[in-house]
Amino acid sequence: MDAIDALTSRRSAGQFTEPAPDEATLNEILRAAMRAPDHGKLRPWRFIVLRGDARKRFGDVCVEAMKRREPDAPANMLDREREKPLRAPLIVVLAAAIKEGKIPAVEQLLAAGAAAQNVMLAAHAMGYGAAWKTGAPAYDDFVKEALGLARTDQIVGFMYLGTPATVPPPLPAPPEFSTLVREWVG
Ligand SMILES: Cc1cc2nc3c(=O)[nH]c(=O)nc-3n(C[C@H](O)[C@H](O)[C@H](O)COP(=O)(O)O)c2cc1C
Repeated sequence: MDAIDALTSRRSAGQFTEPAPDEATLNEILRAAMRAPDHGKLRPWRFIVLRGDARKRFGDVCVEAMKRREPDAPANMLDREREKPLRAPLIVVLAAAIKEGKIPAVEQLLAAGAAAQNVMLAAHAMGYGAAWKTGAPAYDDFVKEALGLARTDQIVGFMYLGTPATVPPPLPAPPEFSTLVREWVG
């Protein structure tokens, strides 16, 4: 797929089915992710791959985290939280390992965000569906610890990957340039 076509036709997948990208395809996706711009060449991105039963165990982690955040959470909310990681056959947790020093933390976070977008685009270009998810677990220290991340690391996204199970709605109308873009001439 042409690069501009990939950029302009990408949609988030609504629902997923098997197959997920295989090992070689996932490696290509991650190689593309790691070509994100990276001030200071810090390589702040970290990728944690969840598949198979690990997604179930991750669901249990998210439930435990929810119970700690919201001790009165009703059973149906906990059940929903447990099921979430099963929505795609493969999840890549994308985190930014923030280093103190000359490069501002926000720039390291942006570099990891750019890597996340590269995951979305590479998956799309190779015919797979992707969706970028966050929610409360992304900001939860219990979840980070369970994934082996440091508290100073930031989860940028849970990148859901697989085969789209539904036809996405048509692309939205092109944005109104005049409200978003202007030329400054001094
Ligand atoms: C930082 C970030 C966090 C996101 N978190 C979620 C999320 O938790 N749940 C979700 O359904 N989509 C999430 N999204 C995806 C956007 O909502 C999605 O791109 C949007 O619905 C537009 O759909 P499209 O990608 O098909 O254009 C997130 C996107 C970004 C950039």
